[in-house]
Amino acid sequence: TGHFTYDPGFVSTASCKSAITYIDGDQGVLLYRGYPIEQLAKHSNFLEVAYLLINGELPNQAQSDSFIHEVTHHTMMHEALKSFLNGFRHDAHPMAMLCGVVGSLAAFYHDQLDMDDPEHRRLAAIRLIAKVPTIAAACYRYSIGWPIRYPRNNLEYVNRFLHMMFEVPSEPLTLPPVAAKALDLLFILHADHEQNASTSTVRLVGSTGANPYACVAAGIAALWGPAHGGANEAVLKMLEEIGTPDQVGKAVEKAKDKNSGFRLMGFGHRVYKNYDPRAAIIREMTHKVLADLGVQDPLLDVAMKLEEAALNDEYFVQRKLYPNVDFYSGLIYKALRIPTEMFTVMFAIARTAGWVAHWLEQQTDPEAKIGRPRQIYTGAASRDFKPLSER
Ligand code: CMC
Repeated sequence: TGHFTYDPGFVSTASCKSAITYIDGDQGVLLYRGYPIEQLAKHSNFLEVAYLLINGELPNQAQSDSFIHEVTHHTMMHEALKSFLNGFRHDAHPMAMLCGVVGSLAAFYHDQLDMDDPEHRRLAAIRLIAKVPTIAAACYRYSIGWPIRYPRNNLEYVNRFLHMMFEVPSEPLTLPPVAAKALDLLFILHADHEQNASTSTVRLVGSTGANPYACVAAGIAALWGPAHGGANEAVLKMLEEIGTPDQVGKAVEKAKDKNSGFRLMGFGHRVYKNYDPRAAIIREMTHKVLADLGVQDPLLDVAMKLEEAALNDEYFVQRKLYPNVDFYSGLIYKALRIPTEMFTVMFAIARTAGWVAHWLEQQTDPEAKIGRPRQIYTGAASRDFKPLSER
C-alpha cells in the first residue's frame, strides 16, 4: 500500500483542470466553453464549434473566414497514403485503417512537430481537423473497392465529406439539404465530452510529449471499444438482432441478466444519471430526418419500443440508466446511407475537434505532468529464483 487512492475507472479522480467542456450529470447539462449544447445544436455548425472548442470563443466573421480557409486548404491527404491504404485487406474494419493512417501522419509532418512552437501546434490541430474526414472517406472507398475521391474544396466541411464518401465520376451527387444538416448536427453533439476515455487517452499520451498525430491515433483506438464510441455500431447491430418490436421484452430481460454478458447498447453513462442531453436532441432529430429523407426504418419502432420498455423497468430506473448519445445516432447514419462499420469513424471525425482542443490546452498547462497512475500491488511477495531443474 502507498499514500495514494485506489480508484478503478477513475470514478472520483480529476486528472486535470480544463476550461473546455462542462457536464452536470445530475441535471443533464452539457456546455462547450459555457454555451449550452442545445443552443449550439440549433444555431451553430461543426467547424464553428471546433473553433470554439480550440480557441475558447466563438469566431467573428474574419476569424471564421480565416479558420475555414485554413481547414479547407489542409484537406488533401498525402498521395503516398494511398499505398498505405492499399496494404490493408479489403475487408479491414475502417476504424483499424483510420487508427493506422492517422498515426502515420507524424511521418509526413515531422519537420513541423516542435511541440514548443505554438505555430507548429496550431498547424497540427488544423491538419487533423482537415484531414481526418478525407482519410475516413478514403478508408470507406477502399473497403468497397471504389477509387478515392479528392476533397472538393468548393464545398463546406460536411458536404465535402459526403461527396468524398458517395460521389462517383461523371455523376453529380445530389444530396437533400437535410442530409448535411443532420450530419453536421451529429458532429456538433459528438465534438467534445470532457475527460471521456478517448480524450483521457489523448491527454495521457500527450503528457509524455508525444506528437499530436500519435495522440489522436491513440484516442481513435480508445474510442473504438463498444463501451465507448463503438456503441453506435453495436446499437444498430443489436436493433437488427432484436428485429421486431415484439422481441424487445426478451432483449430487456437478457440485459438484466448479468450472466448473459449482454448489455443494452446505447444505454447508461458514467456521468449522466438523469438523461443525456445529446440523446434528447438526437431522438427528436431522428424522427425529423427520417421523415424528411422519406426513409421508413422498421428499426426505429424497435428502438422506440426498447427505450420505452427500459425506461419503465425497475432494473434500469434503479440504476439510472438512460439512452445515451449513441442510442439513436445510428438510425440517422443509416438513413444517410452510411454503413454500420463507419459509425464509429463518424464519431472519430467529430471528436477530433475535442481531442485537439484538449491536447492544445494540455500543452500550455503549467500544471500538466506526465500521466503516471499508481497501483495496488496484489502479486507475490519477494522470493528467491529457482533453477529450472528445481521447478
Ligand atoms: N445494460 C444493462 N445494464 C447496465 C448497462 C446497460 N447498458 N449499463 C450499466 N448497467 C448496469 C451495470 O451492470 C451495473 O449494475 P450493478 O450495479 O447491478 O452491477 C450498473 O448498471 C452500473 O454500471 P457500470 O458498468 O458500473 O457503470 P459505468 O459508469 O462503469 O459504465 C457505461 C458506463 C456507459 C460503460 C455502461 O453504462 C455501458 O456499458 N453501456 C453500454 C455501452 C454504451 O452505450 N456506451 C456508450 C456510452 S456514451 C457515448 C460514449 O462515451 O461513447
